[in-house]
Amino acid sequence: MRKPEKHILVIFGASGDLTYRKLVPSVFDLYYQNLLPEAFGVLGLGRTDLGHAAFREKMKEGIEKYAMTKPKSEEQLELFLEKLYYYAFNTKEEAEYAGFKGQLESLNEKLQTGHNFIYYLATPPSMYPVIPAHLAKYDLHLSDQGFKRLIVEKPFGYDLESAQKLNHQLLESFREDQIYRIDHYLGKETVQNLLVTRFSNGIFEPLWNRNFVHHVEITSSEDIGVGSRGGYYEGSGALRDMVQNHLLLLASLVAMEPPAVIGADSMRNEIVKVLQSLRPIKEEEVEKYVIRGQYTASEIKGKKMPAYREEPGVAPKSRTETFVAMKFFIDNWRWAGVPFYIRTGKSLPTRVTEIVIHFKTTPHHLFAHDKNIMNRHNQLVIRIQPDEGVLLKFGMKVPGAGFNVQDVNMDFHYSELNNTYLPSAYERLLLDCMLGDATLYSRGDAVEAAWKFVDPILKAWKNRPCIKVHGYPAGTWGPEESDALVDDVKTWRYPCKNLAGDGEYCEL
Ligand code: BG6
Repeated sequence: MRKPEKHILVIFGASGDLTYRKLVPSVFDLYYQNLLPEAFGVLGLGRTDLGHAAFREKMKEGIEKYAMTKPKSEEQLELFLEKLYYYAFNTKEEAEYAGFKGQLESLNEKLQTGHNFIYYLATPPSMYPVIPAHLAKYDLHLSDQGFKRLIVEKPFGYDLESAQKLNHQLLESFREDQIYRIDHYLGKETVQNLLVTRFSNGIFEPLWNRNFVHHVEITSSEDIGVGSRGGYYEGSGALRDMVQNHLLLLASLVAMEPPAVIGADSMRNEIVKVLQSLRPIKEEEVEKYVIRGQYTASEIKGKKMPAYREEPGVAPKSRTETFVAMKFFIDNWRWAGVPFYIRTGKSLPTRVTEIVIHFKTTPHHLFAHDKNIMNRHNQLVIRIQPDEGVLLKFGMKVPGAGFNVQDVNMDFHYSELNNTYLPSAYERLLLDCMLGDATLYSRGDAVEAAWKFVDPILKAWKNRPCIKVHGYPAGTWGPEESDALVDDVKTWRYPCKNLAGDGEYCEL
């Protein structure tokens, strides 16, 4: 595999959780697989006064807990840790960037990294416009001598207006091709496999349109509540946290046209076309198409589950949604009239993300005595996580007299592949950025198009408090009202932990 060019990965917010749990462990995984260049270093930045040694000690713990690969030996780990450096300064203060620039240049000199720098913003979002502007003041954005890339974490804006403003602010100092907006869902192996399933098989793509697809269903459920993230979540809610980014991205990958080539421009052109074709849900239609819910206290197997309003950092009368179910349409040639249903929530019965393509029934029901025939949709289930895999459901004759039909499964589980290493999303995305490949990163126009779709829903919820926030007991599949959304297709699929099990309300 191609190795990236020599460079320094500069992490703003290096004393935070993301660096500890995801970023440095992923960089270690790349090191373990010999995918880092010889000349390489990580420079962690933050306000907390850590020295190199304390930073390395903390990162060592993070690697031992969260890396996908376990260090082969203490020596291997130590050799990696020697690549980590830390510098404390107040990243808000423009004047302090002079000292930072000095540090960066001397590290560049020491490691011989050719002035190639990747800046990772693992900071609170309020710093996203500030840091790039300060970097630019000190010419640290210029790519005349070595490349300069900027990785921006979510949330990318709070609504359409703030996302547009943020894009504008970033573009004042960095060019679009230098900006890498991360959505970790695109880093997931199984999400990328969606493209391979669609575009490397002759059998699916001819059916992948309004003529044969009855509806598309996407579920992303989590069995835990917001835990200690209440403070953040209060200002976000499920629509901003999961739908605006991850779920609309999944829907776009399901719906997009085949790109001309797998490359940043063609892929992202197709994604943005889908997002621009989403039929707007007007403020006055929100109640009809979108259901929001919030988990209430319950007891599961004798264990008390707190209500969202009892979580730390959450207001006692909070109306923040922890569940969203939605029906929408994509108004284009391929998908006209096909409903897309998506739902996501915290404190649901299980953790699962899956996409289900429900195909239309046969045009003529030959085995009409079969009671279920009207509901017999072939289904293609693409399981993103856990128990990653693909399942095709189809009808088969029950052996014996007559022509009775039953549903059977043809399923593939990633776990059945021998010696397969599934890289973590961050590992894959970091490597891509190091290689200068933005294919799996979001482009500014796509982020704005997704906000444009979500914005009227946020506005309706804000301006019309009469729109209900439905309560649902923690550990259940969300408010009953979300069933009404899918009336025309009878029911949601209730996924079990096991990819193949389904059909019943099975998971607790
Ligand atoms: C994050 C959200 O973007 O995605 C979290 O902020 C959510 O609230 C997480 O839990 C889900 O990611 P994954 O990879 O566990 O499905």
